[in-house]
Amino acid sequence: MRRKWVGGNWKMHGSRAMATALVGAIVEASVEGVDVVLCPPAPYLREVCAECAGSSISVGGQDLSEHESGAYTGEISAAMLRDVGCTHALAGHSERRQFHGETDAQVAAKVAQALAHGLTPVLCVGETLAEREAGRTADVVSRQLGAVVAHCGIAAFARIVVAYEPVWAIGTGRTASPAQAQEVHAFLRSQLARDDARIAGSIRIVYGGSVKPGNSAELFAEADIDGGLIGGAALQATDFLSICAAAG
Ligand code: PGA
Repeated sequence: MRRKWVGGNWKMHGSRAMATALVGAIVEASVEGVDVVLCPPAPYLREVCAECAGSSISVGGQDLSEHESGAYTGEISAAMLRDVGCTHALAGHSERRQFHGETDAQVAAKVAQALAHGLTPVLCVGETLAEREAGRTADVVSRQLGAVVAHCGIAAFARIVVAYEPVWAIGTGRTASPAQAQEVHAFLRSQLARDDARIAGSIRIVYGGSVKPGNSAELFAEADIDGGLIGGAALQATDFLSICAAAG
């Protein structure tokens, strides 16, 4: 039985005061039986890490540079995330791919950087609406996953969390049905199983895209859905905690 995993991706929302209050409420709830990772905006990482210290809550960056260090204005390295206390980093979120033109090769390099610095990468994959309607979902997600397998090797997946986030479901209120999500999760797991059945059996593949308290339990009940990456609903402690409870 894989332990469930729930991440909160706050994106570019809130303030320092909101971050502190939200983390305080989540830490105080002492969630059990599920791995919880909070990904606040970068300026709040240090403070959120300090607030989570000594609790079971982990902290991750929403993105990281594919470079080790150097003249890359605005970028944040894996070593810096580690330095402030992060243990995780999202890589390849669709908003990065879409609005910042991140390629599969860059995403693979980001995953490699995270791994090299002892961070758990949360590799995000997912198709757009046009790709789904053209029947290309499997092609797209296997290409995105395959780029990382090719760059980092299958063994690396023992230390990776994969998030399936259909672009058409993110922030739209249009969730993939449990059956639609399960189909893609099972497909992703089968892709990994071709290279390593043991890793495929133990890796957490979580779903993201308009997960809410009202739909989380049915999504998490699917055989290959090992939790969720939560955006909008992660901004309210009660909603986020109820999603964590559905996973626990
Ligand atoms: P959402 O975002 O829950 O607001 O759809 C999910 C994500 O982008 O990780």
